[in-house]
Amino acid sequence: MAALTFAHHILFSKPAVFLHSTKNGGFSTFFSVSAPFLRRHKSTQTIAAASSLLELGGVKISKEDVVKDEPTNNVPDLIFTKLGLQLHRRDHHPLGILKNTIYEYFDTNYDNQFHKFDDLCPIVTTKENFDEVLVPADHVSRSYNDTYYIDQETVLRCHTSAHQADLLRKGYANFLVTGDVYRRDSIDSTHYPVFHQMEGVRVFSPSDWSDFGMDGTLYAAQDLKACLEGLARHLFGAVEMRWVDSYFPFTNPSFELEIYFQEKWLEVLGCGVMEQEILKRGGKTDNVAWAFGLGLERLAMVLFDIPDIRLFWSTDKRFTSQFTKGQLGIKFKPFSKYPPCYKDMSFWINDSFTENNLCEIVRGVAGDLAEEVQLIDNFTNKKGMTSHCYRITYRSMERSLTDEEINELQWNVRDQVQSQMNIVLR
Ligand code: DAH
Repeated sequence: MAALTFAHHILFSKPAVFLHSTKNGGFSTFFSVSAPFLRRHKSTQTIAAASSLLELGGVKISKEDVVKDEPTNNVPDLIFTKLGLQLHRRDHHPLGILKNTIYEYFDTNYDNQFHKFDDLCPIVTTKENFDEVLVPADHVSRSYNDTYYIDQETVLRCHTSAHQADLLRKGYANFLVTGDVYRRDSIDSTHYPVFHQMEGVRVFSPSDWSDFGMDGTLYAAQDLKACLEGLARHLFGAVEMRWVDSYFPFTNPSFELEIYFQEKWLEVLGCGVMEQEILKRGGKTDNVAWAFGLGLERLAMVLFDIPDIRLFWSTDKRFTSQFTKGQLGIKFKPFSKYPPCYKDMSFWINDSFTENNLCEIVRGVAGDLAEEVQLIDNFTNKKGMTSHCYRITYRSMERSLTDEEINELQWNVRDQVQSQMNIVLR
C-alpha cells in the first residue's frame, strides 16, 4: 500500500513521512553514500550534444555545468536529459492543464494579485534550497542519498520552497511558483526522480488583521484554510475535506489538507503560517504570511486517471493526444498494457547500501523501461550479514520488449551493481 501513497512528495513533513521511508519500511541513511560511484553510470538514453546549451530561466547551462566527474556531484546523465523540458508549461499536457486551472482559481478570486513564476532556474544554492527555509543542518533531505548535488553548494532544487526567500526579498507579497523538482528516490508507479510542484505565498500587513481583533497568525491561518478549501473544490468539486496538523521546518503552525476522493483520503498539499524568521530575514518584520506546496503529479494522476507517473514523460501520441488545453479531468484511456518482465537479484548488502543508489543504477541502465524495484526478501544470517532480494519489473508503456533486450538490461544492472556499489551478488 505504501507504494500508492504519495508521501514522498512531501519531503519536509513530520518525521514518519519526512524520513523518506522506503517501500520496505526502511529509512535512507544520512550521508550514507559517497557521491562518486554515481559518476560512472552510462545512460542508454541519448544525451544532448555536449556543446549544446540549455536555457533555464534565462540562464544558459551546458551539460558540463550540471554533470561533473567530481566526488561532490551525483547528477546522472538521465537527470540532465530532463532539465528544461518543463512539462508544466505545456498547455495540452495534464500538468500544464492542472497548473492553468489553479492559476484560474487565484486570478478570479484574488483579482490577478498573485504573481506567477513558472520559469525559475531549477539550479539553486543549498542556501536557497535549505538554509533560507530553515531546514535543519542535519535534516535527511540534505543528504547525497536524497538530493542531487552539482557541487557542495549547488543542487537541483528538491522543492519549489527554494524560491520563497528570494522572492520575498525582491518584494513580492503574493506569488505562485511552479517548477520541476528533483529527488533521488525509489522506483514504482508513483515515484519518479523529477516531478513538479507549485508553491503559493501570501503576505499580510497589520492593517489586514487589526480590524478583525485577531492576532496575525490566527488571521493568516484562517485565510489560508479558506483559500485552499476553495482551491480543492475548484479542482475536485464538492468533496469532503479534513485538516491534519503537520510539521514543516518553514511553517508554524503547519497543516495538511486531505480530501475524500474515490473512496480514499488523499493528501492534497502541505501548508502553514510562514516562520517569522523567514519574513524577518526578507526584511518584513511586521508582516505575517502563509505558504503552501503541492505536488502536481499526485493530483493529476487522480484527476486524469493516469496510472503510472512515467506516462507524464511519454511522447507517444496515444498519450499526448488524449488531453486538451483547458480541460481538467478528462479520463485517460490506457492504450494497451504490454506484458511485464520480472528479474530477481540477490546480494549481501554492505554498510553503504541504499535503495536509492540501487534505483539510480537501474534507471541509468533501463530508463523508463524500469517500472518497479521492489524488495521481496530480506534476512540476516548468523554471522550478521544481511541479504536483500530485489525484484525489478521491466515494462514499456509503448511496446513489447524482447527477452534479449531485457536480459541485456539485467546483465548491465548486475554488472554495475557489483562494480559501483561494491556488492557481491549471490
Ligand atoms: N516544500 C514541501 C515539500 O516539498 C511542501 C510544502 C509544505 C511547501 C508546506 C510549503 C509549505 O510552502 O508551507 O515537501
